[in-house]
Amino acid sequence: MIDFDPYSHRFQDDPYPVYRRLRDEAPVHWCARARVFSVTRHEDLRQVFKDPERFSSETRRLNRFGRSQTTAAQRVRILWRVLTQMRQNPLKMRDSRMLIMEDPPVHGQMRSLVNRGFTRRRIAQWEGRIRELVDECMERIRQQESFDLVTELAIPLPVTVISELLGVSAEDRHLFKRWSDNLIEGATGSAIENPIESGILDTLAELTRYMKPVIRARREKPREDLISVLVDETADDAGLDEFEIVMFILLLLVAGNETTTNLLGNCVDALLDPPAELEKVVADPSLVPALVEETLRFDAPVQQLRRVVRGDTELAGVKLPAGSELLLFIGSANRDERIFEDPDRFDVGRDTRGHLGFGLGNHFCLGSNLARLEAKAALEALVPELPKLARLRSERDFIDSFTIRGRARLELRRAA
Ligand code: HEM
Repeated sequence: MIDFDPYSHRFQDDPYPVYRRLRDEAPVHWCARARVFSVTRHEDLRQVFKDPERFSSETRRLNRFGRSQTTAAQRVRILWRVLTQMRQNPLKMRDSRMLIMEDPPVHGQMRSLVNRGFTRRRIAQWEGRIRELVDECMERIRQQESFDLVTELAIPLPVTVISELLGVSAEDRHLFKRWSDNLIEGATGSAIENPIESGILDTLAELTRYMKPVIRARREKPREDLISVLVDETADDAGLDEFEIVMFILLLLVAGNETTTNLLGNCVDALLDPPAELEKVVADPSLVPALVEETLRFDAPVQQLRRVVRGDTELAGVKLPAGSELLLFIGSANRDERIFEDPDRFDVGRDTRGHLGFGLGNHFCLGSNLARLEAKAALEALVPELPKLARLRSERDFIDSFTIRGRARLELRRAA
């Protein structure tokens, strides 16, 4: 009997030994504390990802994380705040579409609209600007004896790129960062016991107030930015309304910001000790893309995703009643010894094909090209510097999230 709580900090700090036990002893496991089924083997995650008919992404139908219950008084407070602070009709808001929580066919219609902003060609055009931003960060880093890599590079790079991509003032990026932190902590961190009180609604209200005028301005006078693509009324498919555009921007903030930040932090953390893999990449910088993929496998920034079981079914011989919540542990599937040899070894030379770091199937990460480009540019600049740097502290501080895995800080100093 494996007794683990997916929402405990002890588990979060080092989930890998627990994942291994689960894979071996109970690959689909009823976790009574969290009232979810955990799924930990690669093969089973693949099956779930590939079958949205049986395993739905419409998780808004679940009670948040199966744990907290909203009281009638809380529900009234939520409605009041939605009406007054966001000036939004609560019924319309409930029915608004959100890409990551839709199933076919609605998901496909929305995805083809937003794909236009993320084609490989469109993203490749950002390479020069991304390298410029990396250079600015590296310039600041070179002037310091000791610094926090997360604050100096891993945070500012993706948040600036997203602001510029959306076409909002880069000067407001501190707002974007605050909003995405609040959303991640409120929706996936310690506050999951009481997400209603966590400030998520205030953040959503602020974001809505900020974005609505920008969206209206782009409707009147489109520019070469992502918001203009989203408001494009000539789009022949799922044209998004104003609130749905706000929700999509919110998704980009959460999905595109913290993940890339933590990919960079997790990568450098893995490279620093033991340094053998670092030496290989320093000697051969063409290994950087492989380094990015190995980090996505070895210490995935998105550790878990949720799905809901549509009708009574079975997975790996375990009966799953309709309405059950599944926690899909990407972090475990990526260390499944049935797929990856010696999976707990960080190895830039390995074949990483099949890792699930960006998910799989219809919801496969929309921003994967962008994330890969940012990570490549940042690591190509940083890797040659790393042999001259050492950790300031041996302890690891993780961000407050059970879904996203990453270092809150990574303080480095110039080696003597
Ligand atoms: C290392 C960085 C990243 C990682 C590890 C990551 C991971 C993921 C994963 C695992 C999913 C699948 C969700 C599901 O199946 O429910 C996903 C979806 C998504 N990602 Fe990323 N992501 C990253 C960067 C980005 C960036 C830079 C953006 C955009 C700027 C982005 C936007 C999205 C969006 C919009 C979706 C939803 C797609 C859909 O529902 O069709 N991601 N991401």
